[in-house]
Amino acid sequence: MDPRPASRRATAAAALLLLLAASPAAVTAAAVHGGGWQEAHATFYGDETGAETMQGACGYGNLFEQGYGLETTALSVALFDEGRACGGCYELRCQGSSYCARGGAPVTVTATNACPANYSKPNENWCNPPLRHFDLSKPVFLRLVTDFHVGIIPVQYRRALCAKRGGVRFEMRGNRWWVAVLVFNVAGAGDVRAVAAKGSRDGAWVEMRRNWGQIWDGADARLVGQGLSFRVTNGDGRSIVFDHVVPPTWTAGQSFEGKHQF
Ligand SMILES: *[C@@H]1O[C@H](CO)[C@@H](O)[C@H](O)[C@H]1NC(C)=O
Repeated sequence: MDPRPASRRATAAAALLLLLAASPAAVTAAAVHGGGWQEAHATFYGDETGAETMQGACGYGNLFEQGYGLETTALSVALFDEGRACGGCYELRCQGSSYCARGGAPVTVTATNACPANYSKPNENWCNPPLRHFDLSKPVFLRLVTDFHVGIIPVQYRRALCAKRGGVRFEMRGNRWWVAVLVFNVAGAGDVRAVAAKGSRDGAWVEMRRNWGQIWDGADARLVGQGLSFRVTNGDGRSIVFDHVVPPTWTAGQSFEGKHQF
């Protein structure tokens, strides 16, 4: 499924955001993503500690250190969209089950993982396409229901703006001969559509490609051994340039914070 529905209806939510928005970015995201609730189902994986939600198919590492915390979800194959949905935020509410927490407020989660399909499973194959399914961290699931033993609940969801602290961050992966970077802590739309890199010596932008999840790599060896600037395009199609955000002495595992945010 395209994580960016074409709907541009001026919903009540969008109108409210227009009134409240501190930046034009917020308005753009609301307009692109629309405010309509859609139907899906939700389960949970792992325990209260969220240990099983770390790492995952988006390429993030320790979700606490990276600012995502426990408010995360794995997405079914259709919603995950081969990693394009990674980093996007969703608002969910339990709807139409006697197990829904009474007066339960919606929860907001970031997509950090994939819920894989299993085509040999005759039932409980909620993550198979074309189903829309959220496999939540257990702490988030517990906020939606009166008893987690219910296992699966119907939910309604819609895209939400991601709130992040500080600038967009870049964690270097790869090595001296192969430049790869995890782009994380992306506010607003949260997902990343394209990344380009520019070496400090070259001055030419090189389009990176999505290796997996939110990890991008430079198909071009020219980037090696240089300081790096990045140009990040988010799910709304807005681009921000992060000049000289990575020094030439970078090593894998180091993380750098950009001066800007969506
Ligand atoms: C898929 O489902 C089958 C049947 O329930 C199960 O035996 C198998 O372990 C599952 N495969 C994976 C990768 O989870």
